[in-house]
Amino acid sequence: MDFWALPPAAREEGFAELRATAPVSWHRQPESQLLPESEGTGGYWAIVRYEDVREVSRDPQRFCSGQGVMFEDIPQEMLEASQSFLAMDDPRHATLRKLVAEGFKPRAVKRIEDGIRADARTIVDELVDGFEGDFVEAVAKRLPMMTIMRMLGVPEEDQKAVLWGVDAAVSWNDPDFLAGQTPLEVVAKSMAIMTEIAYRLCAERRAQPADDLITDLVEADVDGERLTDAEISAFLVLLSVAGNDTTRHTTSHAMRALCDFPDQRALLLQDLDGRIDTAVEEFVRWASPVMTFRRTATRDTEIAGQPVAAGEKVVMFYPSANRDETVFDRPNDLDVARSPNRHVGFGGGGPHFCMGAPLARTQLKAIFTELLGRFPDLEVGEPAYVTGNFVNGITRMPFSTG
Ligand code: HEM
Repeated sequence: MDFWALPPAAREEGFAELRATAPVSWHRQPESQLLPESEGTGGYWAIVRYEDVREVSRDPQRFCSGQGVMFEDIPQEMLEASQSFLAMDDPRHATLRKLVAEGFKPRAVKRIEDGIRADARTIVDELVDGFEGDFVEAVAKRLPMMTIMRMLGVPEEDQKAVLWGVDAAVSWNDPDFLAGQTPLEVVAKSMAIMTEIAYRLCAERRAQPADDLITDLVEADVDGERLTDAEISAFLVLLSVAGNDTTRHTTSHAMRALCDFPDQRALLLQDLDGRIDTAVEEFVRWASPVMTFRRTATRDTEIAGQPVAAGEKVVMFYPSANRDETVFDRPNDLDVARSPNRHVGFGGGGPHFCMGAPLARTQLKAIFTELLGRFPDLEVGEPAYVTGNFVNGITRMPFSTG
């Protein structure tokens, strides 16, 4: 936990050393705040190089997700309530992912792009010259919530509670967030709130169908059977968590980076429409908001010449792969025109590749086009980081529109 409390640039020094000297290294069982040490599942192999992350991601036969994808050991009830198809293997993974995948494909996202752009405009409209406040509250967290809640069909009066649940689900190892409660209390409360809302919405949509994802899920036919409320609820929790935090933290990290690299901001502003697409890709590489996912070796195998035994855990470190100097030129510099930019921020490929990537790209493009178009001199101060080993998060960051 001391390591994960360091700021991202300091952590990268450790990863750089591992990439150079021990690309596949064995580590003791990570500390878990939700389970006693005796209930842990043991040590793991750390995968820190770009090519190795890609290899593990793209070979689900050798490296499965069905035995868990979280770095840290987490109680089974919580995993079941929140992970849905993220922690399954094909064929069940493919069947469930297909139920919602259509709405997240580039063509479907294109259809809602105008709405996303309008939401981004509303957020920026509420800022004025000389506005000062917290960038996360006033800007970064708003657009992802507006989009995903609308897509799922979560009514406005429930959105605040869901957002608290989402924050809690990824911030329980952050002492700031806990504010005196134990991690288990916070996680239990988070799951209870989100599950209660999901069950209620399932009942409502069964009684009165609407044009949203929850209705699609309650009506879905999966191999001749309906999904249970528990399955739908896990779906909704997964989509709420995956669809909120990631884009939010990318927005904050990117804004901080544009202040740290003023020449890159100037370059982007010279041709905002022309450079925004490459800039957005670089923002995701830069932020790497999802830091870890795990797999389990299904048989005795090797990664980069290192023997790995069946049943051993393999953890991918995306921020490290995205700073791999053998793949990215000047990896510690923001380069808004970087091309090619085959980062692994959305995963290293394979069946679990981020389903929300087209949506996240569209949101980031919308918010930065509106924000920088209107407030080219916007400045942010020092961020406060989430402490934890899953999401590379920023909890607060002062800003002024200039
Ligand atoms: C910048 C924003 C985002 C980043 C960096 C990101 C990153 C990731 C990563 C690293 C994975 C795991 C990939 C793997 O295991 O190979 C993933 C999976 C996933 N993401 Fe995203 N994500 C983002 C936004 C979103 C959004 C907006 C949604 C919308 C709901 C979303 C939904 C999902 C889902 C459902 C999965 C699980 C896919 C599966 O297991 O088949 N993500 N994401």
